[in-house]
Amino acid sequence: MGSSPNQKAMTGPGSPAGVPRHIAIIMDGNGRWAQSRGLPRIEGHRRGVEALRRTVDAAGKLGVQYLTVYSFSIENWRRPASEVSDLMGLIKFFMRRDLAELHRNGVRICIAGAPDEVPHDVGALLHEAQETTRNNKAMTLVIAFNYGARQEIVQATRRIAEAVAAGTMRPEDVTEASFAKRLYTADIPDPDLVIRTSGELRLSNFLLWQSAYAEFVFTDVLWPDFDRADLEAAIATFRQRERRYGGLSPVETPA
Ligand code: FPP
Repeated sequence: MGSSPNQKAMTGPGSPAGVPRHIAIIMDGNGRWAQSRGLPRIEGHRRGVEALRRTVDAAGKLGVQYLTVYSFSIENWRRPASEVSDLMGLIKFFMRRDLAELHRNGVRICIAGAPDEVPHDVGALLHEAQETTRNNKAMTLVIAFNYGARQEIVQATRRIAEAVAAGTMRPEDVTEASFAKRLYTADIPDPDLVIRTSGELRLSNFLLWQSAYAEFVFTDVLWPDFDRADLEAAIATFRQRERRYGGLSPVETPA
């Protein structure tokens, strides 16, 4: 997600007018969905995977080019070991069950997150998903996994400091663009719209750099209930916003 604000467009090639090129989603409320029904939390996460499948399909049909989903944060390791293990199991389940169909549908999968501490079998499946789908063009699904925005910014800074110390980069080469290239999301355009479900009004360490000019939509819908109508409603809200990028007039496609 390397572009600076004046390089961004509200819609990209192939995106219908008014449809955000890139939507990022904080999929929240799985636990509350389950608890309100007297079910174990894992049942909420399971239904969350189905909501994710629906949303990928709906986003593709609506012409969204990039969809980023927050599937597991660095902070999520603090959850009870049994829930962490359930979430790892679900991510493997999703990859094993859905990869072939996503691939058939032309979805390119990218993983954004720290590679360390990822269980070997999960890491292998994520790697396989990226490799299998790397040339697909219909839509890019970015799975933020073991992701933390502050950690991402720190590792980019460290890589730049190392390059400067090694003499392969000069301090004046440090720009928004060269910094963004060292984020996990290099080459992915910034999100135009960030959606968070379940009524929480926080960013929770998600895409802090990349969301600098994003529009935010918060909905009370719990993630397992999220469907195409909710996505369309968020896009309709997005359409009503004026994006001025710090200027005085609305900008659709900044020069
Ligand atoms: C937040 O709900 C959700 C998560 C921490 C995990 C999201 C994971 C999935 C939707 C499924 C797995 C992902 C993939 C890519 C297959 P919460 O547990 O914090 O809900 P609560 O706030 O109601 O407790």
